[in-house]
Amino acid sequence: MQRAIRHLVAQKGKSPIVMVTCYDATMARLVDEAVDCLLVGDSLGMVIQGDESTLAVTLDQVVYHTRMVARGSTHAVVIADLPFMSYQPSVEEAVRSAGRCLKEGLAHGVKVEGGTPVLPQVRALVGYGIPVVGHLGVTPQSIHALGGYGKKGKTEAEAARLMEESLALQEAGASMLVLENVPHELAKSITARLDILTIGIGAGPHCDGQVQVFHDLFGLMPDYTPRHAKRYTEAGRTIQQAIRQYAEEVRAGTFISK
Ligand code: KIV
Repeated sequence: MQRAIRHLVAQKGKSPIVMVTCYDATMARLVDEAVDCLLVGDSLGMVIQGDESTLAVTLDQVVYHTRMVARGSTHAVVIADLPFMSYQPSVEEAVRSAGRCLKEGLAHGVKVEGGTPVLPQVRALVGYGIPVVGHLGVTPQSIHALGGYGKKGKTEAEAARLMEESLALQEAGASMLVLENVPHELAKSITARLDILTIGIGAGPHCDGQVQVFHDLFGLMPDYTPRHAKRYTEAGRTIQQAIRQYAEEVRAGTFISK
């Protein structure tokens, strides 16, 4: 069956959607079969490139990483995250950027951050047959306006605005909506009001699915775990231990390669 976001939307209320971020073919081969959706997040700026925010990530880089993930994947739906300023300036720029993610990156859809300001972009992309995932709550591309990654939607006014923007994104044609770091009850209400899928990260158990950052799930950054992350293994520590053993053997002259 053709991989498509619309097949995932058909699962609403039946089976929760599993999404994980992914940045290259090796990672994709490891996780592809077990999940529904691979997100080539602009979080790559932080976990792959070592920056403090996602802002410096370029469209070329997202296309490059998406292509690698697509090569390593045969099962999951691949979503490319449109990076900062690759879609905000105009509808035309959004269409060209998303087009590159599908043509060159082989993505099945794109993700954009924000509500009201990006509605014309979402409408146009959907109109051109490009499935769109929205992203509300903590939107890391707005880090300088937000002033931090703390929860959004805690006041009544903020919660009402998030509900309104969720409905507006659905009306504009988005197929899924990432809710990042919002109160659990708000995520529950939004999920109940929408026909499209909500995918939570730090948004509690009531969303239609969950997304986690690859490095957080597997402990690849041993000394850092965000509050919303759950670590299932200590792959980072395992690698550190293995490299120490390899180095010790090479230095001791006991390493033999077959
Ligand atoms: O860039 C990213 O990885 C994301 C997810 C955390 C949702 O946007």
